[in-house]
Amino acid sequence: MKVVITNKIPQSAVDALRAEHDVVFYHDTDDCITREACLEAVRDADAVVTLLTEKVDDEFLDACGDQLKVVANVAVGYNNIDVPACERRGVIATNTPKVLTETTADTAFGLMLMVTRRFGEGERVIRSRMPWQWGMFYLLGMGLQGKTLGIVGMGQIGIAMARRAKAFGMDVVYSDAYELAADVAGELGARKVELDELFETSDVVSLHCPLMDSTHHLVDADALKRMKKTAYLINSARGPIVDEAALVAALEAGEIAGAGLDVFEAEPTVHEGLIDRDDVVLLPHLGSATVETRTAMAELAAQNVLDVLAGKPPVTPVTKA
Ligand code: GLV
Ligand code: GLV
Repeated sequence: MKVVITNKIPQSAVDALRAEHDVVFYHDTDDCITREACLEAVRDADAVVTLLTEKVDDEFLDACGDQLKVVANVAVGYNNIDVPACERRGVIATNTPKVLTETTADTAFGLMLMVTRRFGEGERVIRSRMPWQWGMFYLLGMGLQGKTLGIVGMGQIGIAMARRAKAFGMDVVYSDAYELAADVAGELGARKVELDELFETSDVVSLHCPLMDSTHHLVDADALKRMKKTAYLINSARGPIVDEAALVAALEAGEIAGAGLDVFEAEPTVHEGLIDRDDVVLLPHLGSATVETRTAMAELAAQNVLDVLAGKPPVTPVTKA
């Protein structure tokens, strides 16, 4: 069957697909493909392997044609996929949870360390060739020990973040529709609270929820006002969960102490008001960016395609059967 891969992915995943199917690449590079080229490339596909930069909507599904059986996203987040549109057509959509959990939590934790300890700022001092010397009061940050981390969205990545925070001596509160199993909550020492309380009491707020209608601009001007003036915001989930303009305004007004961001509202564009600020750390969406994890993600996406094309249920579907 015809499998279209829209961008370059790790070779082991390509080999697994090639062993059984006719694999067509739109282009074998790391650049995003244009929408027009993508719609052309997916024509007559039985399966498409997509990245989070491709929008899988009615137009995309029409371009593929009625024989399409599966869209395998190489990402855990699938806000780029119109899931109901896939379900209406009987197309299975899949994502890549679990394999990127630890790597993404490492990124969130790294952002938290960088911004609270001013590591990004310090690095910029040296690279700018500014004079510096050790000083008792030079570039002092906030210690994490004994501070409260508020985790919004206690899924697999939120739990992995909580484990790291516990090892660093932090207290953990979380907000989620679901309550953790008692043994997991006990192990993490994590307490469920209402979202408002989380914003009001946390020293660091870290976002680990998916982007959905209900989480779009979950961190808005009101939430930022609720946060402590000394608190930091970490976002390694999806940009539009934060109202970026409101974040810039809150930083300018000193309503919060800083932010660590791996994702942005209009990626790859970053709000101008963030770029020159010293109290923010900005990374170009590196959440899952390790050789090991990207390989595992691509291999899981390939397995999902192989399963569906063999008439079996895929490992990690996001559509309902
Ligand atoms: C990356 O952002 C992902 O959702 O996997
Ligand atoms: C710092 O470098 C120290 O020795 O305390």
